[in-house]
Amino acid sequence: MCGIVAYVGPRDAAPILLEGLQRLEYRGYDSAGLVVSNKGLKLRKVKGRVADLAAAVPARFKGSLGIGHTRWATHGEPSDVNAHPHLSNDQRIAVVHNGIIENADELRAKLTADGAEFLSETDSEVLAHLIARTVADTATLEEAVRLALKRVVGTYGIAVLDAERPGEVVVARNGSPIVLGIGEKEMFAASDVAALVRYTRQVVHLEDGELAVIKADGFHTFTSDARETAKEPLVVDWDTGHYDTGGYAHYLLKEISEQPDTVARTLRGRIDDRFHIAHLGGLNLTPHETRAFRRVKIIGCGSAYYSGQIGAQLIEELARIPADAEPASEFRYRNPVVEHDTLYVAISQSGETYDTLAAVQELKRKGGRVLGIVNTVGSAIARECAGGIYLHAGPEVSVASTKAFTSTAVAFALLALHFGRVHDLSPADGRRICDGLRRLPGQIEEIIAGGDHIAALASKYADHPSMMFVGRVRGYPVAREGAQKLKEISYVHAEAYPASELKHGPLALIGPETPTVAVVPDDELLDKNLTTLGEIRARGGRVLMVGHREPDAKLADDVILVPKNEPELDPILLGIPLQIFAYHAAVVLDRDVDRPRNLAKSVTVE
Ligand code: F6R
Repeated sequence: MCGIVAYVGPRDAAPILLEGLQRLEYRGYDSAGLVVSNKGLKLRKVKGRVADLAAAVPARFKGSLGIGHTRWATHGEPSDVNAHPHLSNDQRIAVVHNGIIENADELRAKLTADGAEFLSETDSEVLAHLIARTVADTATLEEAVRLALKRVVGTYGIAVLDAERPGEVVVARNGSPIVLGIGEKEMFAASDVAALVRYTRQVVHLEDGELAVIKADGFHTFTSDARETAKEPLVVDWDTGHYDTGGYAHYLLKEISEQPDTVARTLRGRIDDRFHIAHLGGLNLTPHETRAFRRVKIIGCGSAYYSGQIGAQLIEELARIPADAEPASEFRYRNPVVEHDTLYVAISQSGETYDTLAAVQELKRKGGRVLGIVNTVGSAIARECAGGIYLHAGPEVSVASTKAFTSTAVAFALLALHFGRVHDLSPADGRRICDGLRRLPGQIEEIIAGGDHIAALASKYADHPSMMFVGRVRGYPVAREGAQKLKEISYVHAEAYPASELKHGPLALIGPETPTVAVVPDDELLDKNLTTLGEIRARGGRVLMVGHREPDAKLADDVILVPKNEPELDPILLGIPLQIFAYHAAVVLDRDVDRPRNLAKSVTVE
């Protein structure tokens, strides 16, 4: 959600912090601020974008140590004072914070009684006053931060600096990511590697409950009980090019257009033509263990959950193992029954979604075996899981998920093939799926090449206040994701329903003012779907059909044709025109496509 950057080294901190904040802006963006240390703390913070902050930072803003923040408001409206960093009253301690301090009211009351004067409405400001009170009695800043955090209930990723110790920054993580970046005689820290890749590829992820001190010549990490921890740096293969729009009008369009390549990367080295199986070394499951699972339960949030529904379908079809998907945000709160013969699969692009992480932790606590399907290497969810599949889709910058959604569905196809071939999927069917998987990148390219037709349809439909999305069985999760994409970036109300459920209620909504997008694959349910189109048209509803064959002209006003693959894999392709449709609808409606209102890229709070 919010973004943190910290720097210690020989260079001027402000430009590095601003650059890092710019890269993080996609995560949260209602205000921004930074502090540098140079014979005292120099602070600038503003409501608005990082560009507004950059304009407010004077040319001479020297200091080779600093912390910066982009904020997405949770406590207190977006404003200059509520922006981070927050300073202690004596201007000695500066803090930036991601997360939520649950006992902030109680701490605020105590600190106020103790003479602290609060300037902002944020929960985060308590940290600055708390640490300022502890630092007087401790030998080091790290000790002051560690002890102060003992009084805090909630989630945090923080960076702290002390005007009187101008060679170090202390960072800490609990439920909100912090990653260190190792440079040449300089150190960085951030809430996301996006802020670091311009300067270094060597990173260290902190675990929950871990703290670190960064200095120009290195770092050390320790637990909240002051035990030193040993960390192995990881090399990330994402670079700054991934964070540029690359000539596209928006990141979203770039990420949609990258999909032939990102899907090829998800597949690379994972298809075995000898046995028609998938190679998924990261699962850490023997064939014997794989056979022992009687059920697969998939969890994720939002689009990740919808891709999990496609995954569940694939696993049931190819492996004949009962599988279903559930929102992780619900799962974690309903005291789930965890069974030893169920395999749990957690999905997350960012690997940091708090609800999904908490669900994984709850599952592990109850002895569940959890695999992760994750895009971000080394992220919290990836580290919590016993094994899994990395998507290798590259960073997703636009708030709305597209390429990660598609790659997750592809990863599930590989997983289903793997499970299927361990169970009863025949070599012939294994080959059929392997061949189908190989065709995907080229077919995605064909869909993208047809973008102008989809753009024209988006202009035609975008001014409707509400749209219905329907699909049956394989088509239903595709419809759900299509509706999700449309509503989140264009703000057009969109509702998704199983086509089979229409006449049990939502048909009442159908009329000329509410068009329907119908996902109609050419499969064994084609006739049933065509009947549904007839029912919609009979009520005066307009129909935009996405499918494989031109229907009778009476049944659809408009059609988007998609290349046909194997029936099990078709949902992967059918979702892509709906991404393109949502993108163009948002453009026509002049929305902030990459940064839709009220949303943030990675939801690291509850
Ligand atoms: C929708 C979208 C969200 C995310 C969800 C989970 O376009 O991006 O619904 O899919 O917040 O995020 P990750 O996959 O990072 O766990």
